[in-house]
Amino acid sequence: MVLRDISLIGFKNIAEQQLTLSEGINCLVGDNGAGKTNVLDAVHYLSMAKSMLSMTDSQSVRHGDEFFMLDGRFTCDDGRAEQVSCSYSRRSGKTLKRNGKEYERLSDHVGAFPIVVVSPSDTALISDSAEERRRYLNSFISQIDRSYLTALIRYNAALAERNKLLKTSPAEDMLAIYDRMLADSGEVIYRRRTDIIGQMTPLVEQYYALLSEDREKVEITYRSELAERPLTELLLASRQRDFVNEYTTCGIHRDDMVLGIGGYPLRKYGSQGQQKSFLVALKLAQYTLLSEHRGERPILLLDDLFDKLDMRRVAQLLALVSGERFGQILITDCNKVRLQSTLDRAGATYRLFNVSEGEIRQ
Ligand SMILES: Nc1ncnc2c1ncn2[C@@H]1O[C@H](COP(=O)(O)OP(=O)(O)O)[C@@H](O)[C@H]1O
Ligand SMILES: [Mg+2]
Repeated sequence: MVLRDISLIGFKNIAEQQLTLSEGINCLVGDNGAGKTNVLDAVHYLSMAKSMLSMTDSQSVRHGDEFFMLDGRFTCDDGRAEQVSCSYSRRSGKTLKRNGKEYERLSDHVGAFPIVVVSPSDTALISDSAEERRRYLNSFISQIDRSYLTALIRYNAALAERNKLLKTSPAEDMLAIYDRMLADSGEVIYRRRTDIIGQMTPLVEQYYALLSEDREKVEITYRSELAERPLTELLLASRQRDFVNEYTTCGIHRDDMVLGIGGYPLRKYGSQGQQKSFLVALKLAQYTLLSEHRGERPILLLDDLFDKLDMRRVAQLLALVSGERFGQILITDCNKVRLQSTLDRAGATYRLFNVSEGEIRQ
């Protein structure tokens, strides 16, 4: 998948800009606060219909403006041309169109324009709660598999209803209806997570070794209560406890993905360098799986590249992603000289954009 052109109107600190990207590596350089990440976020909007930062649609409208409007022209790996526009107005909300036709559900768009983001905020996957890792997995697997996203939407709806019900004094047969819905969609989600994490592990290992020249063995373990018993049984067994707590205490909304290195938790025992290499390896594994499952190479966004890795590792990464298996890449960095010299050293060709106060010049 290649994003040929993108036009932005009223998006964050960008009043109105148009850029024509290269199908290979694109570099956005400029001072902190210039608007580099904002450009990447606009690309993310076109792909996922939402911000990659935890910003709402209305926070993404330029201060003082009424709406933002993003428009992208893409070329798929098989040569097909696609056009996506995403707009949000403070008054009438969000609209997403593909080739001029408006989507009825935004979720129908997810996965059609695959994307992978490497950013400084990835560290939340290590330091924050399991919820952060579930969010990551959900977003990733939803891009691979539409039925996963459908199951997830059903599960969350049933969970919300069940929790609401637990706050009243519900009849057991009412609960049983929601248990059934949770079990049906929960098992789909459990199987898909097991499957994908299983496929990811050897890839992460491979990329980690390439990036770090580290001999430590890395591992990803999927932790779920459903590994022991089917969700139907778990729900039945926890019913009394759920009444007391007034919420559902078991299910796939409590799963976790445990990251380890050399047999120990990455968070506690991994050095800064190991943690960063691990996160990049994780994202490259995600890229590879998305690419294989969808038959379309995702767009790769590398935000603040040098925040993650030292010069030598960045050079290794760039040499890796300039290969055939990877497609279009957008990189940001605040140090032009450093980025250029590293790219030159990796033997990569690239297009350079200077970003300053929301203006972008090639
Ligand atoms: N809704 C908005 N309206 C106007 N400016 C915004 C909005 N949201 C963010 N900004 C500005 O965008 C700038 C940050 O841009 P960003 O892309 O993160 O910079 P960087 O080049 O460091 O990646 C900040 O100056 C911030 O104030
Ligand atoms: Mg930034």
